Formats: sequence, C-alpha cells, structure tokens
Amino acid sequence: MGQVQPSLWIFLALMVSSIRAAYEDYRLPRSVEPLHYNLRILTHLSNTDQRFEGSVKIDLLARETTKNITLHAAYLEIDENRTSVACGQEKLGVNRIEVSEVHNFYILHLGRELEKDQIYQLEMHFKAGLNDSQSGYYKSNYTDVITKEVHQLAVTQFSPTFARQAFPCFDEPSWKATFNITLGYHRNYTGLSGMPVLGCQDHDSLTDYVWCDHDTLLRTSTYLVAFAVHDLENAATEESETSNRVIFRNWMQPKLVGQEMISMEMAPKLLSFYENLFQINFPLAKVDQLTVPTHRFTAMENWGLVTYNEERLPQNQGDYPQKQKDSTAFTVAHEYAHQWFGNLVTMQWWNDLWLKEGPSTYFGYLALDALEPERSRGERFISADLAKFFSQDSNGTVPAISKDVKDPAEVLGQFTEYVYEKGSLTIRMLHKLVGEDAFLQGIRSFLGRYSFTNVAQADLWSALEKAALNNEIVSSDFNLSRAMDSWTLQGGYPLVTLTRNYKTGEVTLNQSRFLQGQQIEEDSSCWWVPLRFVRQKLPDFDQTTPQFWLECPLNTKVLQLPDLPSPDEWLLLNPQVATIFRVNYDEHNWRLIIESLRNEPNSGGIHKLNRAQLLDDLMALAAVKVHKYDKAFDLLEYLAKEQDFLPWQRAIGILNRLGALLHVEEANTFKNYMQKLLLPLYNRFPKLSGIAASSAAIKDIPFAHFAYSQACRYHVADCTNQARTLAITHRHGGQLQSDFQKVAYCSLLDEGGDAEFQEVFELFQNSTNGSQRRILASALGCIRNFGNFEQFLNYTLQSKEKLLSDCYMLGVKSALNREHLVSATENYIFSHAKTLGEKFKKKELTGLLLSLARNLQSSEQVDRLEAHLKDLKEFEEPLQKALHQGKMNQKWQTDCSSDFIDAMEKHL
Ligand SMILES: *[C@@H]1O[C@H](CO)[C@@H](O)[C@H](O)[C@H]1NC(C)=O
Ligand SMILES: *[C@@H]1O[C@H](CO)[C@@H](O)[C@H](O)[C@H]1NC(C)=O
Ligand SMILES: *[C@@H]1O[C@H](CO)[C@@H](O)[C@H](O)[C@H]1NC(C)=O
Ligand SMILES: *[C@@H]1O[C@H](CO)[C@@H](O)[C@H](O)[C@H]1NC(C)=O
Ligand SMILES: *[C@@H]1O[C@H](CO)[C@@H](O)[C@H](O)[C@H]1NC(C)=O
Ligand SMILES: *[C@@H]1O[C@H](CO)[C@@H](O)[C@H](O)[C@H]1NC(C)=O
Ligand SMILES: *[C@@H]1O[C@H](CO)[C@@H](O)[C@H](O)[C@H]1NC(C)=O
Ligand SMILES: *[C@@H]1O[C@H](CO)[C@@H](O)[C@H](O)[C@H]1NC(C)=O
Ligand SMILES: [Zn+2]
Repeated sequence: MGQVQPSLWIFLALMVSSIRAAYEDYRLPRSVEPLHYNLRILTHLSNTDQRFEGSVKIDLLARETTKNITLHAAYLEIDENRTSVACGQEKLGVNRIEVSEVHNFYILHLGRELEKDQIYQLEMHFKAGLNDSQSGYYKSNYTDVITKEVHQLAVTQFSPTFARQAFPCFDEPSWKATFNITLGYHRNYTGLSGMPVLGCQDHDSLTDYVWCDHDTLLRTSTYLVAFAVHDLENAATEESETSNRVIFRNWMQPKLVGQEMISMEMAPKLLSFYENLFQINFPLAKVDQLTVPTHRFTAMENWGLVTYNEERLPQNQGDYPQKQKDSTAFTVAHEYAHQWFGNLVTMQWWNDLWLKEGPSTYFGYLALDALEPERSRGERFISADLAKFFSQDSNGTVPAISKDVKDPAEVLGQFTEYVYEKGSLTIRMLHKLVGEDAFLQGIRSFLGRYSFTNVAQADLWSALEKAALNNEIVSSDFNLSRAMDSWTLQGGYPLVTLTRNYKTGEVTLNQSRFLQGQQIEEDSSCWWVPLRFVRQKLPDFDQTTPQFWLECPLNTKVLQLPDLPSPDEWLLLNPQVATIFRVNYDEHNWRLIIESLRNEPNSGGIHKLNRAQLLDDLMALAAVKVHKYDKAFDLLEYLAKEQDFLPWQRAIGILNRLGALLHVEEANTFKNYMQKLLLPLYNRFPKLSGIAASSAAIKDIPFAHFAYSQACRYHVADCTNQARTLAITHRHGGQLQSDFQKVAYCSLLDEGGDAEFQEVFELFQNSTNGSQRRILASALGCIRNFGNFEQFLNYTLQSKEKLLSDCYMLGVKSALNREHLVSATENYIFSHAKTLGEKFKKKELTGLLLSLARNLQSSEQVDRLEAHLKDLKEFEEPLQKALHQGKMNQKWQTDCSSDFIDAMEKHL
C-alpha cells in the first residue's frame, strides 16, 4: 500500500466525524415501535455441532414518517436477501442495509417512507453458533456420572444487552412487546420458554425434530425473554398457593435430583408472599426453574423461566455452612421480588437500574424475615450493608446510585453494590420515612399504575409522596422528589452535628459530607436529611417518620423540640439508622448515651442497629480526629453486656481492621485487649467440644460461629484447645456440623506443624465435596509455616479447575487476615502476578488487593505494591484502590495510632 494523499486524509477525517455524529447516541431512534415478535428458533445440539438458526417477524408501529428502521443485532449472520418490510400484502423495497458494529445497529434504508400510525411487518432470517460466553443464546454441558457422556444444552442470558445476540430486536428495556415463541429441536430434548407449550408438530424435513409453539408472552422487555433446549431432569412439579395456582418445575442435571434445593422449597412460598404483599397477582401460569451448569451471574429473573448458576448453588446433601444457605435463600427471594420490580414494572433505561435491583434486594430481605423470623437473616443483611457503605462511602470518589450509562460496557458496569445494596438501603429509607401504611400504599399503587410499562425514578417518588400526603406524613408543600434525589443522584453521605443547649433546650444541627482522611469542610455537597429524635425517657425506636428536615442547600437549623428532653436524659437522632448519615453529639450527650448503654438494663432501650451505629460513629469520628479514641473505648466497655450479634459484629469488624495496622510492639497489647473484650462473649456460648454432634444445642449458628472464631483468633481462654480437640475428633470420624469445621481446622493448623498441615492438605486434595474444600482452604490459610502454605498455593494456582481457583483466594484471604504469613504471601502474590491477572476477573483481583492493602503500614510497603503491579493492565483499577487504601492506612498510622494505643492501654 502506497502513501496516503493529504486530501484523502481530510476526506477520511470528515467521514469519520460525520459517522460519529450520526451515531453519537447509542439509543435507538424512537420513530418505530415494536408491538409484537413472532420468533422461531431451531436449535442443533449434537456433540460436534451446536448452533441455531431462526427467523423473526416484528410488528412495527410507525410513530412518525421515516425512511429507515434501526434495531439491534450482534454476532448474527443475517441473510440480507430475506430481510423484508411489508404492510399487509404489500412489500416495501429495502434499498440498502447499513451495519454499525460498534453500536450493534442494523439499519434498513427503505424504498419509500413508512407512514405515521401504520403497522408494518419486518421479517429477518439469521443464524449463529451457540457461544461459550454465557451471554445471548449460549451452550453449556454436563457429564453424566454413570455413562460419562457429555450432554449439551442451550439456554439464554439476555440481561442486560445480550438479546441482540440471539435475534434482531429493539434491545432496550423501554421497548416492551408481546412474544410468540416457537422452538425447534430434536425429540431427545425439552424446549422451554417463559410460557407453556401450546402444541408441537413434526419438522418438515429433519427427522425426529419438532416445532413447538409457546403461548404468547405478556408485554415485556427483551432482556426478560428466555428460552432453553436441554435434557435436564425435572426434580419436582409443584403447585403453589398463588391466585393462579402457578405451577413450578425444577430442572437440573440428574446427579442433583434428590438433594435439598433451597430454590425448589422456597420459590412457591415466596411467590405467594409477594402476591399478598403487593396485592397484585403473578400473571403467568407457570415458572420453570432451570439450574444451568454455567451461568454468567448467580441467577436471572426471566419471566416464567428463572435460571440459576449451578456453581453457586451449594451441593452437599444439606450440610453446608449456614452462611451459604442464607445467601442462596437471599438469591431466590431477590429473583422473585423481581417478578414485580423489573418484570411487571421496568425502568425506562439502565441509568435507573437501581429501581429494580434496590427494591428486589430490600423486599428479598423482608421476605426472608417474614418467612423465617427466627433467623433474622434480612436484618443481618441490612446491618452488613450499613456497615459496608458507612465505611466505603466515606471516600471522595464514590458513584451515585442512579447514573447515566450509554454503551453496553457501561450498562454492564452498572451492576454493582450501588444499585443492589445501596439501592436497597434507599428503599428502606423510604419505608422508614413514610411509615408502614403509606409505604405499602405507595408501593402498591406504583406497581398497579405502571404494570406492563416503564418508569423513571421520579415515578416512584411521586407514588410515595402521594401516599405520604394521604397519610399526613408530609405536608402538601413538601417536595419528596427533591429530597430523595439528593440521596440517589450523588455519592457519599453526611455527618450531622447535633449540639444541645441544656439551658434553653434548643438543638442546633448542621451537616457536612463525611470524608475519611480528608478535611471535612472541603466539600459543599448536602442532603435533605430527615430528622427524627428519640429521648431517653421515651425510647421509642419504632417511630421513624421525620419530625423535621435538615435542608439542602446548607443551612444550620435551630430547633425547639416539641417534647423537650430534660438535661439529664440523652437525645438520639435517626432511630433504626433509617437513613445513611452519621451523627456527632455534644460532649454531655455522648456521656449520657455511654452511661446509659453501660449501666441501664436492656441497653437503655436503644435499638440494636443504633447501638452498632454509635460504636461505628465514634470509631469513625476518632479516625478523623473529631473525638479522642478514649470515648470510643469507653463505649466499647458496654459490650460486656451486649446480647445481640449486630453490635458485636460491627465493633469487632472495625477493631480487626485497625489491629492489622499496628506495629509488632503494640500488636500484643491489642491482642490482650481483644481477649479481655471477647471473653464475656465467649463464655456465653457452650463449650466448643460440647456442640460437636448436636445442631440443636445452638440456636443462633452465625452468632456462635462468630464468637468462636474471633475468640480462637485471639486465643481467648481455652478456645483453641477445644477447637483442636474438635478437629481431631472429626478427623477420626466424629460428627461436626460444617459451620464449625473452619474454626476447628484453623485452630488445629494455627498451633500445628508439618504433620497437621500434610494431613489437612491431603484431606483437602482428596475431598470431592466443593463445600468441604472451601472450608479446608480457608483453614489452610491459618498455618504459620510459609513452606507449608506454599504447597497449597502452588497446587491451587496451577489447577485449571474453577473451584480450586476459588480455594486459592479463600486460603490467601485467610492468611492475609492473620499476621504470620502476611509478608510471605504478599511476595508470592507479586511473583505470580501475571498468572493471577490471567486467571482472575477484575472483581476478584480487587478483593485480593484490598485484602492485601488492609495490612499495608508503611510508605515502603505501598511503593513496593505499586512497583510490582503497575505494569500489569489487569491490575490497573484494583491497584488504584489498593494504593489509596494503603495511603489511608499510613495516614491513620501517623495521625491516630498513638491516640488509639493510649486509649486501648487505658482500657486494658
Ligand atoms: C433515518 O431517518 C430519519 C428521519 O426520519 C433521519 O433523521 C435519520 O438520520 C435517518 N437515520 C439514518 C441512520 O440514516
Ligand atoms: C443474495 O442475493 C445476491 C444476488 O441475487 C446473491 O449474489 C447472494 O449470494 C445472496 N446472498 C445470500 C446470503 O444468499
Ligand atoms: C463443556 O463445557 C465446558 C465449559 O463451558 C467447556 O470447556 C467444554 O469444552 C465443554 N465440553 C464439551 C464436550 O462440549
Ligand atoms: C400469537 O400466538 C397466539 C396464540 O397461539 C395467536 O392467537 C396469535 O395470533 C399469535 N400472534 C401473531 C401475531 O401471530
Ligand atoms: C437421542 O437419544 C437416543 C437414545 O438415547 C440416542 O441413541 C440418540 O443418539 C439421540 N440423538 C440425538 C440427536 O441426540
Ligand atoms: C488421600 O488419598 C490417598 C490415596 O487414595 C490416601 O492414601 C490418603 O490416605 C488420603 N488422605 C487422607 C488424609 O484422607
Ligand atoms: C512452588 O513452586 C515454585 C516454582 O513454581 C517452587 O520454586 C517452590 O519450591 C514450590 N514450593 C513448594 C512448597 O512446593
Ligand atoms: C477513594 O478515592 C480515591 C481518590 O479520592 C481513589 O483514588 C480511590 O480509588 C477511591 N477508593 C475506592 C475504594 O473507591
Ligand atoms: Zn436482581
């Protein structure tokens, strides 16, 4: 190729810019609207050939006159000669077809104009291989345990932007349409879609192939359409107690049939629960639950065909750790809440993804607590989410919950904890803000009004505002949208400072953004903060509707409270931590709170989430030097009487993080302090050796597990001895519930040598049980000799098995959590960084580096981290986070550690 002439350069530059202008927007034009799809897909699933071919006929309404039609298609081979547009019998010529691969656009330029308000039929024929990337229409397989034969199957994952990989379509959530799906496949297989099969016919030319018509799927977005062709087994057909007596079927590979399946047991109950809660019937006749051997996500809420990731479902004859059961139960609860939030009422665009993920997470928690109140799982999830965001969102660069996205990569990047857990906390805030009655009214009217359509954030606000107004929760001039927008359109959260005038009874309040390690005054952001006060003599933590608001833009508020607390009783803000903000009180009020918690029965009536939060706030305020650590340690003393899991979990979580930042000399003092703190907790539970065989001995397994593992970690009393005995008994065939196996084996290894290591390592290698392997992997990270640990690291890192890669991470995280192997493990990570980068996803690498960063104490260590990883592309983003964490650690070291140590020594 010769030199390019200058004039041609200009021409090219012009062309490129004009194309860019035309495609500036990744959104489809709004000139035509799809009303209905007739979709036919023929699937081929032999062992050598897995592909599909299909056709789609779309009824289109022209919303304006136009000479072109744009829709989505990606990785499809489209037969242009058979692409046609017709109005009834009359064909419109297609002059030219244009494709934009970047935008996944397929553009038809027509011979003549479509007329406004006319309906047209667009027909297209296409084919593609079934892909291996778990998106669009993809293939998966399983091996029969007896015959060792590989069985192929095909299933869809369309959310968020992958429907376009299976058929040409208007692949945006707001283009809802009805779907007639017809699936063709060999008789050996079962074909499923969101709707029941109406009837089947033989294929004209392929012997033993059938075409089956499925009933019309109700108006829905493309990302919720699903189908599958497979030969999995149906473990059970169950009729639920919903109004329509919805039928559930449960498909899985044969080896799983007969095992306890949380999804199977819970789904029908959940569907009834939500039907009653939302007072809107589930509109479909059946739900197929399909457990797929490989899946891009944990599960997917497709209408009528919910899919689960087999890898993430526990498979262990019922005995797997409670934590895993809880997370599976949550997944199922979340997917079924989606049937209303997402499937029935859908966000207009992915910027408001939180409008389906937030409520589905929150109602999922409520459902778990309603179905099994004794476990308080929902409440614990909420407490963990609060802990997470109070810590994580004290950073200056955190995203807003609702944020604009344009291309598919950004859409996929929107699926983060901000839309799920923080979205959930935002719905919870609304719930507490308007109260039970108005909340349910508002939610029901929102769902009823927008069924089968699309919404934006403002529609939710206005439904809730109306309900709040009806219930006289807010006054008619109050703008709830403006208030709520201040929580969803910006990241971070405020610190509210409350100062009482004990003479006049006046209360002065102001707010500023809470930032860890940065000047608090630097930021001018503000929030509409709902104010609800609780006083000591009337400790009612159930009333959470606001009495006042702290406004935005910034304003200092001076209030005369209607129900004036006397100077010798405390005043608390934000009952149940309904809203994400910290509170700093004046000195005297803090003293009153601390005294009350330490001395009064029943913790002075203070709600457990507030107890956890008070600890969290005082520790955080000490870390930004607003208070001395002394006050936080004074408060910590009350824990000796604390009966509830949540405050313990929060306090110990924070202390563990700070303990990791202490130098060796102080580490011992810290250990002594932790022993003293944890002893009363440890003593409250039965002796470890006594719990071995009986699961009935302990009601609250997560709390017990927490108490034992923390106590053993700091060598409280006889914890480690008991735990070791337990492990040895288990090794010799004794029963031990899986929940307690980790603490048992961890203690065995912590105090053991080569022999113990080799034995447990072999046990790990020999085990065929995934759940068992994970437990042992975590325990192996407790060994003190790196030579031993390196065997485990080499073994798990060399393996191609996904499970062993997970085990690698578990072992490493456990080692990084204990002091002995931190620096050797760090070196190992550095010298294997390239392999790690190839093997793990960004999310996993971030988790790994943040675990590592938690221990960084000096600037040399921070520099070393950077030097080793800076040239590796995979580590770019995780590294930034880790370096930031390292710098924050150093800052704490310099600014706060001596204050922390002084306070700790004083409280020994
Ligand atoms: C399609 O037609 C509209 C006018 O209806 C025009 O504005 C638009 O640029 C055309 N799109 C393409 C890709 O040619
Ligand atoms: C489409 O038609 C053209 C002209 O008749 C022909 O050359 C081409 O091979 C056809 N393409 C396909 C995929 O059949
Ligand atoms: C089965 O699936 C796995 C994982 O997707 C893949 O690596 C393997 O090649 C497949 N095996 C067959 C025989 O298709
Ligand atoms: C879709 O299927 C239903 C039920 O079989 C049928 O009544 C209807 O005519 C079909 N719609 C279209 C547009 O083909
Ligand atoms: C269908 O199943 C039969 C019996 O198991 C088997 O012999 C045959 O090879 C299968 N055919 C296909 C196409 O899977
Ligand atoms: C692991 O398996 C090997 C070979 O079957 C066996 O010799 C060894 O005793 C097993 N180890 C343990 C700890 O079970
Ligand atoms: C782990 O592998 C490295 C080389 O990849 C080797 O040098 C080292 O000795 C191995 N360690 C153990 C304990 O096997
Ligand atoms: C926190 O903010 C800093 C910049 O202010 C940024 O570099 C860092 O990545 C952020 N950390 C996290 C965990 O988001
Ligand atoms: Zn979801």
